[in-house]
Amino acid sequence: MSMTQTAAAYFKWVADAWDSLRADYFGEAVREAAIGRAYLRPEMVVADVGAGTGFMAAGLAPLVAKVYAVDGSPAMLEVCRRNLAGFGNVELRLADGAALPFADASLDAVFANMYLHHCPDPQAAIAEMVRVLKPDGRLSISDMVTAGPLPMSLRGDPRLWADCIYGALPEREYLDLVRQAGFVDVAGQRGLSGGQVVGVEVYSLSVMARKA
Ligand SMILES: C[S@@+](CC[C@H](N)C(=O)[O-])C[C@H]1O[C@@H](n2cnc3c(N)ncnc32)[C@H](O)[C@@H]1O
Repeated sequence: MSMTQTAAAYFKWVADAWDSLRADYFGEAVREAAIGRAYLRPEMVVADVGAGTGFMAAGLAPLVAKVYAVDGSPAMLEVCRRNLAGFGNVELRLADGAALPFADASLDAVFANMYLHHCPDPQAAIAEMVRVLKPDGRLSISDMVTAGPLPMSLRGDPRLWADCIYGALPEREYLDLVRQAGFVDVAGQRGLSGGQVVGVEVYSLSVMARKA
């Protein structure tokens, strides 16, 4: 699993406009849901995977010792570098989520906002997050999910790309992925409504879990 060509091309193209696009889709409530329940402490070292232009990392930096902002798109990371220049404890890493540049069991928490649904193999992406987390480490991931399955013909439809619904999994499948990866205390919190696609409800889900 590596970053898809579609994702690479899209985020290269959209990087300079991402912050205003993102603000149209989601904002503070999604970040608060992700960070507020993560039991962060000042000595912690955390990663924001699929960090993009640094929305989540900017919320994390004042709260912990170190934030690694990881992304596979050089263009998104360049904007991130500018956005987060004021934080001395943020380090950027250009890397694919399939091979996170961290040792086993080295991080206290891993965050990923609106990232997983871009991964061709979300199970492999979560497995990599498990690998780098310390035992008891926290996972905090948020994505658009669906209340039930979308018709196969629509799954991965590029027209759904910009709304983060491309690749969206049904909520139950999403939570199962997290549990099957070896996480416990898995708790999901519904957030934004994304309306309906062919009669299927779409909404953001923030999931908090702990590595067993
Ligand atoms: C929808 S954006 C979200 C950015 C940011 N988390 C936010 O909340 O604004 C998804 C990000 O994931 C990155 N991404 C997608 N697939 C990736 C992969 N396989 N490895 C690393 N980054 C990836 C993209 O480059 C993009 O910056």
